[in-house]
Amino acid sequence: MKWNHEHYEIDTDPNRIDHDRVLAYLKTTYWAGDRSAAEIRTSWDNSKVLFGVYDTNAVNLQIGCARVVTDTRTFGWLADVYIDPEYRGRGLGKLLVKCVIEHPDCAELRNFILGTRDAHGLYEQFGWGTPAYPERFMIRCSEPAA
Ligand SMILES: CC(C)(COP(=O)(O)OP(=O)(O)OC[C@H]1O[C@@H](n2cnc3c(N)ncnc32)[C@H](O)[C@@H]1OP(=O)(O)O)[C@@H](O)C(=O)NCCC(=O)NCCS
Repeated sequence: MKWNHEHYEIDTDPNRIDHDRVLAYLKTTYWAGDRSAAEIRTSWDNSKVLFGVYDTNAVNLQIGCARVVTDTRTFGWLADVYIDPEYRGRGLGKLLVKCVIEHPDCAELRNFILGTRDAHGLYEQFGWGTPAYPERFMIRCSEPAA
């Protein structure tokens, strides 16, 4: 599935993902910086929907990404949302999240969760919020949560 906006394209074709670039991006983040290349690649290969953001003015350079782990109806997890620093602040993060919630595998999810340290204001614009009953959720971590 593809969306076009100005000279940007968002595409869910998994064969188009530039995994070297995704790895380089994610290694700079607070949540995936300690993950190995193999761990990151496996997590992408086993996710249901992969989103790439491309600059069609720059030979389709991949400038952003996100992935969704989901059963397509009852549960989804939005992860690894990232826009290249050179392209930030021009609405691409919001465009990416809008495309995520429009995708048929994500649009009807009963529970669509994500984790964030500081980007609540981005996701709140698309309906995410603090769980009404946080005491009903549990998490099992193999290491201390970041
Ligand atoms: C978060 C990120 C994807 C946003 O991408 P972007 O293209 O710069 O964002 P946009 O230009 O579409 O604007 C983001 C909107 O969310 C808001 N926002 C809230 N928290 C934010 C945060 N921590 N970072 C960026 N924007 C944030 C902005 O104010 C803006 O809202 P507005 O346009 O109504 O003022 C990008 O900054 C990024 O990749 N950051 C590093 C990785 C990261 O933190 N990803 C999110 C993990 S949960």
